[in-house]
Amino acid sequence: MCGIIGIASNKAVSSAIINSLRKLEYRGYDSAGIATLSNGILNEVKSKGRVDTLEKNIAIKNMLGSIGIGHVRWATHGAPNTLNAHPHSSDNVSVVHNGIIENSTLLKKHLINKGHIFKSQTDTEVIVHLITEYLKELNLKDAIIKTLKQLHGSFALGIIFKDQPNLIVGARRGSPLAVGYGLNENYLGSDSYALKSMTNKISYLNDGEFCIIKKDQVDFFDEEGLKVNKKVLELTSKEQDYDKGDFKHFMAKEIEEQPTTLKNCINEYINVINNDININNFPWNIKEISSVTLIGCGTAYHSCLMAKYWFEENTTLDVTTDIASEFRYRKNRFKDDNLYIFVSQSGETADTYAALDLCNKNNMKTCSVVNVIESSIARDSKFILPIHCGIEIGVASTKAFMGQMLVLYILVLKLGILRKDLDKDLYLNKIKDLKVLPKLVEQTLLSESKIQAVSSSFTDAKGSMFLGRGFSYPIALEGALKLKELAYVHAEGYPAGEMKHGPLALIEDGMPVVVLAPRDNYYKKTISNMQEVIARGAKVLLITNKSKDEIFSENIWETILVESTNDDLLPFLLTIPLQKLAYYSALKKGYDIDKPRNLAKSVTVE
Ligand code: AGP
Repeated sequence: MCGIIGIASNKAVSSAIINSLRKLEYRGYDSAGIATLSNGILNEVKSKGRVDTLEKNIAIKNMLGSIGIGHVRWATHGAPNTLNAHPHSSDNVSVVHNGIIENSTLLKKHLINKGHIFKSQTDTEVIVHLITEYLKELNLKDAIIKTLKQLHGSFALGIIFKDQPNLIVGARRGSPLAVGYGLNENYLGSDSYALKSMTNKISYLNDGEFCIIKKDQVDFFDEEGLKVNKKVLELTSKEQDYDKGDFKHFMAKEIEEQPTTLKNCINEYINVINNDININNFPWNIKEISSVTLIGCGTAYHSCLMAKYWFEENTTLDVTTDIASEFRYRKNRFKDDNLYIFVSQSGETADTYAALDLCNKNNMKTCSVVNVIESSIARDSKFILPIHCGIEIGVASTKAFMGQMLVLYILVLKLGILRKDLDKDLYLNKIKDLKVLPKLVEQTLLSESKIQAVSSSFTDAKGSMFLGRGFSYPIALEGALKLKELAYVHAEGYPAGEMKHGPLALIEDGMPVVVLAPRDNYYKKTISNMQEVIARGAKVLLITNKSKDEIFSENIWETILVESTNDDLLPFLLTIPLQKLAYYSALKKGYDIDKPRNLAKSVTVE
């Protein structure tokens, strides 16, 4: 999704901005642009498509200026084209923006009446004209304050001015924004990851704040313009050099990395000597918690749903799950003895952040399961459980999904034993099994051989279904989401037992259907549901685990076997063939696997 870079320096900044924009590419975007200020002139270069295309523009090579802003855009208002790409500029002001200005239509009307001429279809352009208008009568700071007060919605902004040769203004409401400190230069960035190659000294703007960045000084202000003191944080996690290595795509690499990332995470949370789980500094007494709400979006929501099944199996806690975009606008009954858990790989998802913020404002117990520990969701949660899986570049979440499930499962077991819901021996056995999980994931990754061949049937299909019951149901949802987002094939995840209540009507001759039926408590029931779809012509790909018992069912098109483990852990193993199925289906179609169309890695608008 959109990303912002700003640099105030004593040397030319355009190539450093281009390099930093590259760090933001993984978020998903459709156009890019840069503006610098040199000799009292605002220079602007923009292009549709990748940062590479922008860099090839001849004008970039000659772009002077030691003050500049850059942007990668993920279209919200107006088509993804060069005209709508950021920055947007008047003669006096140039602006880059993440977020959505909800009252832009009204503001635009008012500004047009005042004689302003708009060039793009974006909501962002109203910001340019508002500042330009207010600068006619106010000083810079007051013009900014007055502009920000007019805007409804969410924004992170980077602004440069024709008449201010030494500064960049940054402002934040809703969308994240960070400031970085360097030697004879300072930076603005929509996340700290983009700044990590330049500095590890960072401050974050809070909602409603703005800042003025010069090469040797940064000042922060609240919405009324009063000075705010900021802590400078030193990032512990260094910039990781993360490339594809010998893999064709980051997604392929991230799938193969899973045994290692799971092992790393287990090492962080499990004491190998006494086989106990360490969750240090948990801020609440266990007796203060009698229920749990898990909140996330997309894949992260699926890991929440998975955790609900584990919580119910291993604890007596009441559990609900919620999609963040729904939770944030509902009339929730906030409960003091409820633990609210927010799951997010990026830690920047706008809806998940808004749900967290709502809970914080109601003084609730908030905990987040995140990958990016410097993210907004991590910073604003009262307790963090990192998933320790390293940066994930592929837009389709794979190793982070596994990491989220793992950390949630670890939390389930810990709460289960602390509440005495789980018997000690059972707890120890479950930990023993958990320690073997990375090995089983590795073996499942190695043993899979049919997936590539069967994927053609999905590539060419009009539609497909993914069915599962119990622990396998959230995984069915996740398998369907992966196929949709990567291979652009309609796929529906469904509880197998629900088919006869409507979706069975969709089944027609040759339709590919994935049935997840591991040998758990639901096995026989799922196999019966599988027969019902086979009887109606479905081409069933059965995914189950290895067992000495035969599969008593006829007319199964293909069977894929994963390794065996206890019922709780089977979902991890079932996930592997589904990730690969989506990967190979997209590969066959030649799609952009790491950056699927219309999607973004970090969804910073609601
Ligand atoms: C996963 O494959 C998706 N790209 C998407 O559903 C993602 O999980 C969702 O946008 C939430 O992102 P987050 O984990 O960064 O909050």
